Amino acid sequence: MNPSAPRSHDTIRAVLWQGDHLHLLDQRLLPREEAYVDCRTSDEVAQAIRDLVVRGAPAIGIAAAWGVVLAARQDRGGLDAALARLRAARPTAVNLMWALDRMQRAIARDAGADALAGEAQAIQDEDLAANRRMGELGASLIAPGSGVLTHCNTGSLATAGYGTALGVIRAGVSAERIGQVFAGETRPWLQGARLTVWELLRDAIPATLVADSAAAHLMSTGQVQWVVVGADRIAANGDTANKIGTYQLAIAARHHGVKFMVVAPSSTVDMATASGDDIEIELRSPDELFGYAGQRTVVEGARAWNPVFDVTPAALIDAIVTERGVVEHPDAARMAAVFGAA
Ligand code: MRU
Repeated sequence: MNPSAPRSHDTIRAVLWQGDHLHLLDQRLLPREEAYVDCRTSDEVAQAIRDLVVRGAPAIGIAAAWGVVLAARQDRGGLDAALARLRAARPTAVNLMWALDRMQRAIARDAGADALAGEAQAIQDEDLAANRRMGELGASLIAPGSGVLTHCNTGSLATAGYGTALGVIRAGVSAERIGQVFAGETRPWLQGARLTVWELLRDAIPATLVADSAAAHLMSTGQVQWVVVGADRIAANGDTANKIGTYQLAIAARHHGVKFMVVAPSSTVDMATASGDDIEIELRSPDELFGYAGQRTVVEGARAWNPVFDVTPAALIDAIVTERGVVEHPDAARMAAVFGAA
């Protein structure tokens, strides 16, 4: 069986290389419409990343790698500038920089067009394999019959397929370790409400939507034993940047004795960044807060502050699950034992 092929509970692919262009499931339109955006130049890929046509740390890295393939086919002389534009598309998810660094090393080896495409395909295939491995590792930490709460979208839509935190949830549901999945709606862009609930129902995994502001109350009812989230960048001491709202989930989880798991491939680990204080947090347009479904909901003239990631301190994390293994109660020494020094 083709290892990249979708399986049951895992049927969605959002980033598809079509031989001469990149076919991206447009995540701005889900779940209302399943439409695709075709990128034929690296600048179109950079624009798609900026506009959240494609989003989620690993998926951004994979799309950017294909963007380099397109750039090399367009004009090898313009590669450095194209790489710089891809690198600047979004600041927080280190998978973007990691994938571009890897493509740049292939370019430095004088890789031809086919070899560059091979490198991008390897990045995509390795991500899917890592997700399946993390699914097994993470699910094994969860006691049978548990309830879990997740945040944002970390599934097939955000990766090469299967997902990170949603991969653990897929594996945990298949193994009957997880009995209930709660998804926080993830304001303001609604990755949880629009994307995670769609993805889980599409793959026949029952999911219950909760308002972000219901999370602490949900924990107080005893219905969840684990919060399971992804990451955009994990610093050398285990501090973890993820979608805005993750930090307050970790605080509430600790208060209620609920365990907190971060699931991310090693491409999300940034040993060159000492702590969460050094991670750049993306600020997006206040317009994301001013309206709902195209309708303005806030009075004209209002101001808004819209950071789209936050940092959860390592001390609030019970386990970081990567394809290289699980780091329990992460700190700098435990991270270095698995990932080496920077
Ligand atoms: O702004 P987004 O939608 O790209 O943010 C995505 C997240 O924060 C995810 O939790 C993270 O990238 C992990 S995806 C496997």
